[in-house]
Amino acid sequence: MKCVKCKGDAVINIRRANAAFCKEHFNEYFTEQTLKAIKHFRMFRKTDKIMVCVSGGKDSLVLWHVLHKLGCDVTGMYIDLGINGYSDRSKDKVNSFAERFGLKTIIVDLREKGHPIPFVARKAKREDCAVCGTIKRYYFNKTAYDGGFDVVATGHNLDDEASRLLANIMHWDDEYMNNTYPVLPAGGKMLKKKVKPLVRLTERETAAFAILNGIDYVMEECPMSKGATSLVFKDALSTIEENMPGSEIFFYTKFLERVKDIDRSKTDSDEMKICQTCGMESFMDKCTFCRLVEKVK
Ligand code: FES
Ligand code: ZN
Ligand code: ZN
Repeated sequence: MKCVKCKGDAVINIRRANAAFCKEHFNEYFTEQTLKAIKHFRMFRKTDKIMVCVSGGKDSLVLWHVLHKLGCDVTGMYIDLGINGYSDRSKDKVNSFAERFGLKTIIVDLREKGHPIPFVARKAKREDCAVCGTIKRYYFNKTAYDGGFDVVATGHNLDDEASRLLANIMHWDDEYMNNTYPVLPAGGKMLKKKVKPLVRLTERETAAFAILNGIDYVMEECPMSKGATSLVFKDALSTIEENMPGSEIFFYTKFLERVKDIDRSKTDSDEMKICQTCGMESFMDKCTFCRLVEKVK
């Protein structure tokens, strides 16, 4: 297998692009695909202050790495979910990555705050992932707001987004479907813009990028995600992609074209209230996060 750019030995074959690359040209391809998404969806400007949500996994660390190499002003934000063992191992990966590249990090520790995910889920009698979603969304936005960031970036990749779209289509969930978009605008006075710069790259490619560039990441999946239905949709898509290379990105990008004009800025400042407990904007007198946390106190 030869690199399509330099005819040197290729290290990866990307069937949907009908191309194989050596390490140098794969890195180039990877960065170009990221830039293409950033520009096409107008994710941010060079001068914006970016907060990257990092989990210690490959996607978020790779995103942090690429944005740093592109010269962006980027800070990593890690939430210690309080899952024994797994959270400690992933925090170590984040800290050593930040140290190695001299990057700024913000750590929010849910154990210190008194609401680690397993505890809240048990007390609230709700699924771990649902609780986790509410708590993470809250801290991502609050930390970005408190820190004066312009935009919140996450490492969601093409497989994440296409499988989520497939799941939403299976359930004809229009509201979720409309929010399956790589950019969600800022809203009200406190809701920060959210972006997903890796949406043109697959999980296999982010893993390859991490390995080729010596990025040490936590390989295990979150123990709470075992049996998650999202994995079924990922498997289904990967079978389709294997048999018909290019189907996944076609499926996802054609959908984005159809929904590109939908107005996703649903939070007008005048409709928003201020949460009586935490002071963040909310649709109700108390925000979803504060209601959840109070329930388990
Ligand atoms: Fe949220 Fe595992 S990452 S429950
Ligand atoms: Zn090459
Ligand atoms: Zn609140």
